[in-house]
Amino acid sequence: LTVAVLISGTGSNLRALLEAARHPDFPARIIVVGADREADGLAHAEEFGIPSFTVPWHEHESREAWGEELARQLDVWKPDLIVLSGLMRLLPPTLVARYSPRLINTHPAYLPEFPGAHGVRDALAAGVSETGASVIVVDDGVDTGPILAQERVPVLADDTEHSLHERIKPVERRLLIDVVRGIATGDLALTPSS
Ligand code: GRF
Repeated sequence: LTVAVLISGTGSNLRALLEAARHPDFPARIIVVGADREADGLAHAEEFGIPSFTVPWHEHESREAWGEELARQLDVWKPDLIVLSGLMRLLPPTLVARYSPRLINTHPAYLPEFPGAHGVRDALAAGVSETGASVIVVDDGVDTGPILAQERVPVLADDTEHSLHERIKPVERRLLIDVVRGIATGDLALTPSS
């Protein structure tokens, strides 16, 4: 299974996938990494010798135009699966339609709880005793697609957004690797988002 990973940030989830894919028995290969900016996480692709590209958000006058350029870049590689891992942009519906359901996303909350760009902060503000990590199929909504895997993560009384996010990320990485493996082996069916 060939995989493209799209990021915006530090790429710790990306790094976990790159490390997993190093093992010869891992049934998926990361063939390209894309970013919407000069993300720090692109350094992981460099280190692992994986090609990368950027489609800078600010160089396009609309989400659609940005999405068209992103689609053009992805069409060069024709990945079997696209993993959004910390991509902090909503994809235009045209791009989702083109790749769905072979488009998955990681989210640092127990969806449908706390969707959106600040899932960790929102869980903390809500004062819940547990939140979680989720891997979903991307649909046209914001973190609303079918859930492929999720797991609860405790919130501690003295948690900050950072400490809670750092506790969520390892769970997120494990779920993501298991989901990509499951998709590659066929154990996990990608249901088209409704
Ligand atoms: C991850 O928790 C992801 O779910 C969220 O932002 C974080 C990105 O972390 N959207 P990283 O860039 O993989 O370190």
